[in-house]
Amino acid sequence: MTLSKHFLTLEELDSEEFDDLIQLSLKLKKNLRDNVPHRHLAGRTLAMIFQKPSTRTRISFEVGMYQLGGSAINLSSGDLQLSRGESIEDTARTISRYADCIMARVYEHDQIEALARHADVPVINGLSNTFHPCQTLADFATILERKGRLGEIDIAWVGDGNNVCNSMIYGAALSGATMSIATPSALRPLERVVRKASRLTRIHLTEDPHEAVRDADVVVTDTFKSIHHDDSHEDTLYPKYQVNDHLMSLAKPDAIFMHCLPATRDREVTTSVIDGKQSAVWDEAENRLHSQKALLVRMLGSP
Ligand code: CP
Ligand code: NVA
Repeated sequence: MTLSKHFLTLEELDSEEFDDLIQLSLKLKKNLRDNVPHRHLAGRTLAMIFQKPSTRTRISFEVGMYQLGGSAINLSSGDLQLSRGESIEDTARTISRYADCIMARVYEHDQIEALARHADVPVINGLSNTFHPCQTLADFATILERKGRLGEIDIAWVGDGNNVCNSMIYGAALSGATMSIATPSALRPLERVVRKASRLTRIHLTEDPHEAVRDADVVVTDTFKSIHHDDSHEDTLYPKYQVNDHLMSLAKPDAIFMHCLPATRDREVTTSVIDGKQSAVWDEAENRLHSQKALLVRMLGSP
């Protein structure tokens, strides 16, 4: 199976392709554990552009390319001529002459769209202000691992209806999971995303975190202050939307807690929850590696 050229929002995928990526993520994870060689991208190069800081995205893509037999080049946007005014279009054309794929983390989503329009090679969104589709792949691989299924899963999102939330909504639509999303009315996820996903699954919006988490299988939150937000954003959310032991007790007894990380402990989530036995955050972080390897294999060449 070969995917459409770019991976910017998850809208590029159908349910079958999404499911295939999740299955391949877990297969590649097992290959790594069992020392089964999987150098599917020998000799291929990924160029990574970062306009914002990153720990997980940068390391998992770089290690992933290495394990697949290829290599990755890390390019901070400040080191590129972009910082001196070279256009994103010309940067895309230039990198396409050297690398087989571009992964970029940008502020405005239209920057990744411009990269994709002008690159001759596939472009992957490594987070924009409005979407984080790579995170969603890892999140659903984690849900499948922990719950043994993707459909008939009730996901409760609590906090900021941000980039990670927008992408998770598309993930729910592709997998058949339902979502209850508790945010202040001013911080709801993108209306067009909710509208589109609602044609395929149940997406319920509320301002009440208790209502959202009741009987949920998965409880998810994210930082109250994304890289592109200021302190006022956090003030709107804390403490009402904090995931704590009381909130977790309203979900199903076997519910898992997820967070894309980095977390601010005792703000959006208490230490007792993130370090507690229901927390899946370290598997979730690890799965970034496996799911992005699956994505790279499907975008650049099948095993
Ligand atoms: N979750 C995530 O994307 O982490 P980084 O910002 O560290 O890459
Ligand atoms: N919503 C967060 C995610 C970080 C991985 C941000 O955009 O900063």
